[in-house]
Amino acid sequence: MKPKKKYPSEVYLNGKWVKPDEAFVSVFDRAFMFGDGIYEVTPFYNGKAFKLKEHLKRLQYCLNEIQVAIDAFSLEKLMYEAIDRTGLNKADAAVYIQVSRGVAARSHFVPEKIETTVLLYAFPVTLEGFEKKTWEVIATEDKRWHRCDIKSTALLANVMANEEAIAAGFAENLLVRKGYFTEGSHSSLFFVKYGVVHTHPEGHKILSGITRAEVIDICTDLNIKVVEKAVHIDELVEVEEIFVTGTTTQIIPISSITHKDKKVYTAQKDSLTKKIQEVFIKKSRG
Ligand code: PDD
Repeated sequence: MKPKKKYPSEVYLNGKWVKPDEAFVSVFDRAFMFGDGIYEVTPFYNGKAFKLKEHLKRLQYCLNEIQVAIDAFSLEKLMYEAIDRTGLNKADAAVYIQVSRGVAARSHFVPEKIETTVLLYAFPVTLEGFEKKTWEVIATEDKRWHRCDIKSTALLANVMANEEAIAAGFAENLLVRKGYFTEGSHSSLFFVKYGVVHTHPEGHKILSGITRAEVIDICTDLNIKVVEKAVHIDELVEVEEIFVTGTTTQIIPISSITHKDKKVYTAQKDSLTKKIQEVFIKKSRG
């Protein structure tokens, strides 16, 4: 059964805190009509943000890429306010920020005078205990656009990929472009091959995951070699461990991959993933 998700008790919308059933935007909002908006999700462990600067920096990058003039760092205070207002100071939570270009009569070109729609809220999330999980996943073709580095609200291809996995009883869908793994529908992807950690290089084909960067740092600290190089689906026979990472995913080992109804990978071990998880827990929880 799919988990039931609850609305937050309050959301920040365009300068005001309102109840979710009072939070309305126009049908002419460009995020609704075109997916013309971007978003960010930041984790909070016991009320304390983790990698806040990195998340705000990525938000700023996305705002700059779509040419929306907002200072991402000006939202920091509101993020903590969202945590306070929803009583999540002593729990694990995440803050969702969405910036839409705004409301205007429909046109593909961007109207000259337009006010952005800013939505922000905190929600509880179970971050603790991720190290006890393993995921069985599927792999399918990456049908997303060619600017996956922009955290766009236009997530139809991600939603379709994730739904395909969940509907078939799997936890995630690993995306493959021209035979090479890029990332998961909502997670970054790592492979361990002959003791070396491999992950797709940053660029337009993946989101620059904040957890991904943290894992690379951890590997460096642990003297584990990392190569930012895409892994081909035919290389799976040489792969010892696979794990996915993300703000809400944390670090989860993959136990098997099913591709076109055939099991193409079964994990041989998880020792390196466990080492990385252990350091990640220490770093994120202080
Ligand atoms: N998703 N790749 C994709 C496509 C993602 O959607 C995400 C996260 C990641 C991991 O990035 P990070 O470590 O910065 O969370 C990678 C978020 C959590 C979401 O869409 O809800």
